Amino acid sequence: MAQSFSIPRSVEWNDTHITILNQQKLPLTTEYLELREISDVRDAIATLKVRGAPAIGITAAYGLALAAQSYQTSSIEEFRTLLQKDRDYLASARPTAVNLFWALDRLVASVAHASSVNEAKTVLVHEAICIQIEDESTCRSIGEHALSLFQNRDRILTICNAGSIATARYGTALAPFYLAKEKGIHLHVYALETRPVLQGARLTAWELLQAGIDVTLITDNMAAQTMQTKQISAVIVGADRIAANGDTANKIGTFGLALLARAFGIPFYVAAPLSTIDLTTKTGEDIPIEERAPEEVTHFAGIRVAPEGVNVYNPAFDVTPHELITAIITEKGIIRGNYSTTLSTLFKEEAHQ
Ligand code: MRU
Repeated sequence: MAQSFSIPRSVEWNDTHITILNQQKLPLTTEYLELREISDVRDAIATLKVRGAPAIGITAAYGLALAAQSYQTSSIEEFRTLLQKDRDYLASARPTAVNLFWALDRLVASVAHASSVNEAKTVLVHEAICIQIEDESTCRSIGEHALSLFQNRDRILTICNAGSIATARYGTALAPFYLAKEKGIHLHVYALETRPVLQGARLTAWELLQAGIDVTLITDNMAAQTMQTKQISAVIVGADRIAANGDTANKIGTFGLALLARAFGIPFYVAAPLSTIDLTTKTGEDIPIEERAPEEVTHFAGIRVAPEGVNVYNPAFDVTPHELITAIITEKGIIRGNYSTTLSTLFKEEAHQ
């Protein structure tokens, strides 16, 4: 039977503060945090209380709009200088997801023609709200396009959490599963737990269970065996940044999945909004990869599991080369072929609309 779903919003604008769902505490505790200072917003992004490329962008946009409300100046020039400083401060929270910079720069550009400080303050809030509203319909469109690639009863594998709480709603890689549920189509999701901080086990499994979507959790090192024995029909993942040639940065482990999918002859799809595609980043080699604290690797749920003093390498993302990607699913449709050409054509068409 066709059904809709209900998942808490991960970010909400409340005029004097931003409310976020604390994703660090899920699934054991559903805690909401009120962010009132720009430093709270930066901290929430840096410590993964809010995470996922589109949700990071939305939160940063609200954070910048919030900070600007307290500027005391009446000079629009000085206002713009303060705004740029706060933009740079928020932009330093995390380096890989381009939606962070995209959203902040969109806010700064929105007040380029403001003639007064009061006008600029109103415009910033309006623009941030637009980013969140647009992201919801963007994700729904991604879901519609992605669903056209799947058949009833397909088993599909995913990593990390590119779901509703990583966006305004629906998610990117998880959007087709919500839409399938609405339409009464049965899809079965295999979710990788996603070490080191378990976005798959803690967030994807939680989200999909809440929505009544069939989900089976596996550890990261079970991916090959699962593809071999469970008739996996596709892999679908989100993205933090897609370079002009289609090379895609996403959660660490994604590249390995793409290699496995190629070995098993399974299609490997990337689902992402246009705001994640960065034509100024030429190839994957130009994408900055965040390295996070060693404790994420040496500890499990706060308990040390590795010896003191061991060297740790903890890249949060990897880059999947474009030739391993069967298609990139955007809100504007399914992109295939030579991505250097197809992506730049897509953006040229967008610019003419
Ligand atoms: O470190 P995270 O949890 O922010 O990493 C998130 C991902 O890698 C997601 O797949 C990506 O941001 C897309 S979210 C729609």
